[in-house]
Amino acid sequence: MATGTGDGYDAAPFVPDSTGLDELSKAAAGCRGCPLYRDATQTVFGEGDASARVMLVGEQPGDQEDRRGRPFVGPAGRMLSRALEDAGIDPARAYVTNAVKHFKFTVRDGGKRRLHKPPALREVAACRPWLAAELRAVRPELVVALGATAGKALLGPSFKVSEERGALLPFPRDDGPWTAVLRPGEAHVLATIHPSAILRAEDRDAMYAGFLADLRVAADTLR
Ligand code: URA
Repeated sequence: MATGTGDGYDAAPFVPDSTGLDELSKAAAGCRGCPLYRDATQTVFGEGDASARVMLVGEQPGDQEDRRGRPFVGPAGRMLSRALEDAGIDPARAYVTNAVKHFKFTVRDGGKRRLHKPPALREVAACRPWLAAELRAVRPELVVALGATAGKALLGPSFKVSEERGALLPFPRDDGPWTAVLRPGEAHVLATIHPSAILRAEDRDAMYAGFLADLRVAADTLR
């Protein structure tokens, strides 16, 4: 699979040829595949059930995830766990990761606050070999893309969450880069909003209801 962008942004040289999540996670701690490692505290690799039927893919670690070294342990993670439970998906039996494994941020208030900054497409592309390695290791039946960044990483740069959310699609598509990782159509992908969008929304109840409806499609698929 083509990786990186040819400009030195590429995690592939750091990814061991292994399907062991522990080995992958240890190697990811030393990733220098793009400049985001410089300001982040640490790599935040995926975690969860190594034989999970469902893999949830977020954007990138947030402030708390960066400090604690674990994905989805902050407010967005709490929102995600609540919604998974409400939808009938056991969070303990899922594998949770991000399209980008380092926190990207800007500093405000003289260094007191670190504000999330969306990753650039080339950072997402650089990090793709780690997501590929996780997909190879877990081989989920269903991949849930949480938000636009994960959607673009999995479904291509023209992906639009507002248009494609809630639909169960064969994964990988037979013309995309992920066919080097999983057999075409071996799994399914379903995209939805990012749980942090609910936290920012004026009408949280309506956003949450939509998120839940999408996750119920995922839950039905797993039944
Ligand atoms: N948002 C994400 O996309 N991932 C996390 O791990 C935390 C917040």
